[in-house]
Amino acid sequence: MKRSDSSPVIIALDGPAGAGKSTLAQQLARRLGYVHLNSGALYRAVALLGLRNRVSPEDGPRLAELARQARMEFTSTGRLLVNGEDVTEAIRAPQVDAVVSRVAVHPPVREAVTEHQRRIAGRGNVVVEGRDIGTVVFPEAQIKFYVDASVEERARRRYLQLRQEQGTVPPLEEIERQIRERDRADSTRETSPLRVADDAILVDTTGRTVEQVVEEMVQIVRKRLYAS
Ligand code: C5P
Repeated sequence: MKRSDSSPVIIALDGPAGAGKSTLAQQLARRLGYVHLNSGALYRAVALLGLRNRVSPEDGPRLAELARQARMEFTSTGRLLVNGEDVTEAIRAPQVDAVVSRVAVHPPVREAVTEHQRRIAGRGNVVVEGRDIGTVVFPEAQIKFYVDASVEERARRRYLQLRQEQGTVPPLEEIERQIRERDRADSTRETSPLRVADDAILVDTTGRTVEQVVEEMVQIVRKRLYAS
């Protein structure tokens, strides 16, 4: 065992929409016995609170206030509770998809969500997935992965996932258009744009199975943190 200090381990997993981050983060966390912290789900929760309270996606200060006041917790099975309500399904609604990037653009909203992430990560070892984890939220993360795949493959995965979850799905071309638009919004915004951290390990998931990629990540983590 190489690790001798007792500070919690943070593994950052960043990348664009549909690259496979959630599945990978979930499985990596399970293999290592870490908590899975899905930061995109927290931004989605703020977007949902905004929709329910009729707050415009452009109103950063009011959205940040909703974010700060909310209690947000992940259960051990990865469900997201907001003020005690399980919103795991509600945050995946198309209405939330449509506004979340606009909600996530506001610096005060990002500050509030970052606070929630720091609080959750303070309790133990975590795999944190998002867009700005290795660059902004946890630059001190011991290991940083940047997961990517081609736009076409990401659109295809999203399409299959939606079809399984919701039945009625927009055409594949429309999903691809939405992904390109989300990539553009996430990587060109002024605060915390999506970018590869200098010390990140690049993982391309195009044409590879989840099992292959998770195995590669587990080996890297073991070697870096626990190899003697
Ligand atoms: O990961 P997911 O696609 O669920 O994230 C939803 C949205 O939340 C992203 O498109 C992005 O706008 C925002 N997000 C962010 N920073 C993160 C995670 C997600 O801005 N760390």
